[in-house]
Amino acid sequence: MRPLTLKVLQQLSAEKFTSGTALAKHFEVSRSAISDAMKDATAAGVEVFSLTRRGYRLAQAVELLNVEAIRTKLGQLAPHLHIEIVDSIGSTNSEMQKRAEENAPSGSVLAAEIQTAGRGRRGRVWQSSFHSGLTFSLLWRFDKGAPQLGGLSLVVGLALVRALRAQGVVHAMLKWPNDIVVHHQKLAGVLIETQGDMLGPTAATIGCGVNIKLPAALKSSIDQAVTDVTDCIADNANATATVSRNALFAALLSELEPALTKFNQEGFTPFRDEWLGCHALQGEVVAVTSSHAPTVEATVVDVADDGSLIVERAGKKILLNTAEISLRRRMKATARHAVSSIVKPIKGAK
Ligand code: BTN
Repeated sequence: MRPLTLKVLQQLSAEKFTSGTALAKHFEVSRSAISDAMKDATAAGVEVFSLTRRGYRLAQAVELLNVEAIRTKLGQLAPHLHIEIVDSIGSTNSEMQKRAEENAPSGSVLAAEIQTAGRGRRGRVWQSSFHSGLTFSLLWRFDKGAPQLGGLSLVVGLALVRALRAQGVVHAMLKWPNDIVVHHQKLAGVLIETQGDMLGPTAATIGCGVNIKLPAALKSSIDQAVTDVTDCIADNANATATVSRNALFAALLSELEPALTKFNQEGFTPFRDEWLGCHALQGEVVAVTSSHAPTVEATVVDVADDGSLIVERAGKKILLNTAEISLRRRMKATARHAVSSIVKPIKGAK
């Protein structure tokens, strides 16, 4: 999307028509530049009504991200975060990793209105479209090495759940290690990428994608069950149906900042009980899949202090501790395969 398109969208209203002439005058461009911007917006999935002699009106108000609005909502936390919002980028995580190498400070936040090459866990693509959600990365620096940050992804997921619940997504739950789900449909995902030595220090790029209002076409093109904040809130009688992207972003950052600070000092242990209480797969039979071993079934029983998931299979407790593993909920156990190649038994466990 072109920079002019975003500016024009910000200027348009969902209540009244604004004439092309007035827009052209305001932005000091030609009428045809405004007309091209409207075509560009429509191609990006924005619904714009156009009437001869009256101009343009949005089907729904567009709320672009605004650093000052977010900083105001962050209050005392604002000085701890360095927020930048860009119109369009390939992947906020890739860009943040570059910035980490260039000594960007801990607490740097990069959000994009449009992300054209969003990446997910396990080599997947993160699909989003203009104004359909939040796509951002947060850089956090730790003195420890990556092997000591085992619970980080779980703590990040928990912080997102806290914020989403407070914003009215009352049924937000976690799916190990850090998917956010509502009724087992994916609402948000987290991709954490680390740079640094095994013994530390580590720069963790924490990439978060949150679905706020997915267009129907995008929803149906995603190869798993997905949901969005707007639908989840509509289910909740006490909440208003519209979601402010700036308010939600500020709420997420307001939970992430203190959770990461506490995790840095105390590790995962103080979060463990709350995390378990939010785990959608607790006690469920799941199919455990990894890229290098056959899928097996096991029952989710617990989570360890290092963030590993503890599952039980044939009476044995087993630790799942690699980000390359994915879990799928099963209604009942059927398959019976050896698990030794993808999981390691807990020492001394029965
Ligand atoms: C997943 O569930 O697989 C993780 C999805 C993470 C997506 C976010 S969007 C912002 C950041 N930039 C990326 O390229 N990916 C993450």
